[in-house]
Amino acid sequence: MGIPIIRTVAELRSIVAVWRRDGLKVAVVPTMGALHEGHLSLVRAGLAKADRVIVTLFVNPKQFNSPADLIAYPRTEYDDAAKLAPLGAHILYAPDAADIYPQGFATTVSVSGVSAGLCGTFRPGHFDGVATVVTKLFLETGADMGFFGEKDFQQLHVVRRLVGDLDIPIKIVACPTVREGDGLAMSSRNARLSAPERRAAPRLAEILFETARRLNCEDCIDRVLDEARQAILAAGFSQVEYLELRTGEDLAVIAIPNRPARLLVAAWLGQTRLIDNAEVWSRGSVQGFVQAAAAA
Ligand code: PAF
Repeated sequence: MGIPIIRTVAELRSIVAVWRRDGLKVAVVPTMGALHEGHLSLVRAGLAKADRVIVTLFVNPKQFNSPADLIAYPRTEYDDAAKLAPLGAHILYAPDAADIYPQGFATTVSVSGVSAGLCGTFRPGHFDGVATVVTKLFLETGADMGFFGEKDFQQLHVVRRLVGDLDIPIKIVACPTVREGDGLAMSSRNARLSAPERRAAPRLAEILFETARRLNCEDCIDRVLDEARQAILAAGFSQVEYLELRTGEDLAVIAIPNRPARLLVAAWLGQTRLIDNAEVWSRGSVQGFVQAAAAA
């Protein structure tokens, strides 16, 4: 049997009301479609923790910086529904843009602090678009839990912040990045890579992880990061937008990994922008010791 596709918030709410009446726990997995194993891992995690899982599919125009990027974004609803049905997800909520943003829509949810820097610098307005649509989706679904991938690490922090600040009664669950066999972080954008670009793409993750290990045992952080930027360019990427060390907890700028940290990267390969991140354990911790030993 296929997964029911729901188009309107009224229909969605009447279904969720019955689930609520029956005391069921509801999870939401927000997506823009073009589902891959990374999304499906979020759905499985939702099914493991909740009684009902709603997957949302909405290509959100407010989070795209360029009209060309919005037009080029893959729209594969039929295939997406076919991937979800065997997993046992309960509803695919795929509203029209006119329902999410009706005539006269004038509200923007803007999260300062964690939205600044990193992708926030290179994609102005992007996180306002994400925060606005995610807030709507949380309020429309009334879900108890929301599942997000760590690949979009800054997005995860923006969502956590807005949920905390606005007292939205939903628990945000972060799930690990799912990777291809060669290490490339799964992304709907990978489909845009040409064959030679696809061969070069895994170098980003390789360099990222190697650099994360080096950050644990080398003192000159700036030199390590600079060498990593050069290595990414040498691998065929045309631009490194950022390669930065931040705290894992609140994305604050950090000079050395004296607390659990993340190394975050965004780089262009041809016409495709790839992002990724890796955990950097704090120096002196057991995990940091293991990371340093692996780099030695
Ligand atoms: O990560 C995404 O696919 C999108 O940013 C999200 C969270 C579905 C909001 O449109």
